[in-house]
Amino acid sequence: MKIIENAEKLNEYRGGALVPTMGALHEGHASLIRAGAASGRPVLVTIFVNPTQFGPNEDFARYPRTLDADLKIAEAAGASAVFIPTVESMYPNGLANAASHAAQFSLPAIATTPLLEDAIRPTHFGGVCLVVSRLFDLCEPSLAFFGEKDFQQLRVITQMVEENSSRWKSLKIIPCVTIREPDGLAMSSRNRYLDPSQRTSALGISRALQSAANYSSVAAGEKSMRETLDRHGLETQYAVIRSETTLCAPESGAKFARALIAAKLGEIRLIDNASVGISFING
Ligand code: PAF
Repeated sequence: MKIIENAEKLNEYRGGALVPTMGALHEGHASLIRAGAASGRPVLVTIFVNPTQFGPNEDFARYPRTLDADLKIAEAAGASAVFIPTVESMYPNGLANAASHAAQFSLPAIATTPLLEDAIRPTHFGGVCLVVSRLFDLCEPSLAFFGEKDFQQLRVITQMVEENSSRWKSLKIIPCVTIREPDGLAMSSRNRYLDPSQRTSALGISRALQSAANYSSVAAGEKSMRETLDRHGLETQYAVIRSETTLCAPESGAKFARALIAAKLGEIRLIDNASVGISFING
């Protein structure tokens, strides 16, 4: 597995499978890399803790940086190369300039209308779209893999690529299912912040999502999720059931909807989501 620090060395991976990450890799990232390898294309993993997608009071400075372990995980999962750019190479006109570009980025509607992550982290998707576009331009992949755990992010990137089909002509975004711990907690780089008692409380999130599927109206499902989160001592930011495509209110007659949760345990913020089926929506 090659380690690439200079974007000029990316040529041989053009047309390959791209797995963009911020490092702190876990089994969820490994599953994206394995899916890339299964495509038969060379897999390029990128590791870049992107400053422009963190708000001023968020965890950029303390975001886990675990490069040695990341390289082992990437190699074992089948990565051909890992690209580790510097801030200067990603944002050659300076970070202040990049931050203002991120703020002005012409975002797809799904990044601004659902009032989910977009409401709580208003500068987040500008930074995500800025860095992901830069990676797409530098790496020119034909496939790019993103996890469903960050469901709104996945939909934002998919919509951005659809709306810019002449810029990224043959690029396809491949969604990959959320990988969970055996007890149901969705894998996340931020899980390592949890102390043992918070780790137990965090289970309230996957339990809340499961509980939503037992109810026959959106309102009852959402109420059940909020109550489950409360019982586990989680502070709910949102616990909603939305259309899988627009992330706004579910359309009548749709086959599936998404239950989505953001909740906090002290300073630690976790998100998760799950599909809920037709009987639920039509109930
Ligand atoms: O999901 C992530 O890890 C990041 O948001 C991404 C897509 C790598 C962009 O920095």
